[in-house]
Amino acid sequence: MQGLTQILPGHFFMIKIDENFGFRHPFSVHRYSGEQIEFLVEERGAFSASLARLEEGKTADLTGPLGNGFNPDRGQKILAVGGGIGCAPLAVFESCGFNARYLVGAKNSMSVPGYNLPPGKTLVVTEDGSQGGKGLVTDNFSKYRNPEEIVFACGPPVMLEKLAGICREKKIDSYFCLEAYMVCGIGACAGCVSPLLKERKKVCAEGPVFRLEDLN
Ligand code: FES
Repeated sequence: MQGLTQILPGHFFMIKIDENFGFRHPFSVHRYSGEQIEFLVEERGAFSASLARLEEGKTADLTGPLGNGFNPDRGQKILAVGGGIGCAPLAVFESCGFNARYLVGAKNSMSVPGYNLPPGKTLVVTEDGSQGGKGLVTDNFSKYRNPEEIVFACGPPVMLEKLAGICREKKIDSYFCLEAYMVCGIGACAGCVSPLLKERKKVCAEGPVFRLEDLN
């Protein structure tokens, strides 16, 4: 494995916990410090539920870091935007010491993930206004973003599509971290295409971070 200091926003690991689950599953790095690495796990199915409840002392088999992470110039101002569990990669900006602010969204206060971002640099919005500001991240994006900030976004496809439209219209330098179903995670199976991309690129090996120009 590469040194943890080489981990960037968007890097992910393929994780296997039990022979019963067969394939490995991709999880974005949430944050890291020293030799410790963290993942944000939402229980969406049998695998993520088992991973989230893995008892102390049990082992998981990790391959990574994989993919092309986001590596902006030091000092570049960044607005990192995330929706739901898609916020998972954002805390890596803090681990890396990048100059970022954050805009994160969730359906309601009960579904705001434990994103571990500095409150002074983070705007949380919920669709029903039960925590933070009210509305979607795309409703709040233009008034929260500072003009000099480039944009990094991760989250559900519908959010990324809408945000890409705004960034295209306003000519904002922007980068999108895509999710895809993955089998190998290393570019060998062609099973990880995304409908958000213009071309049939492999999200695992050519992404998961893509430029706005790569999106439909
Ligand atoms: Fe196999 Fe991407 S998951 S090529």
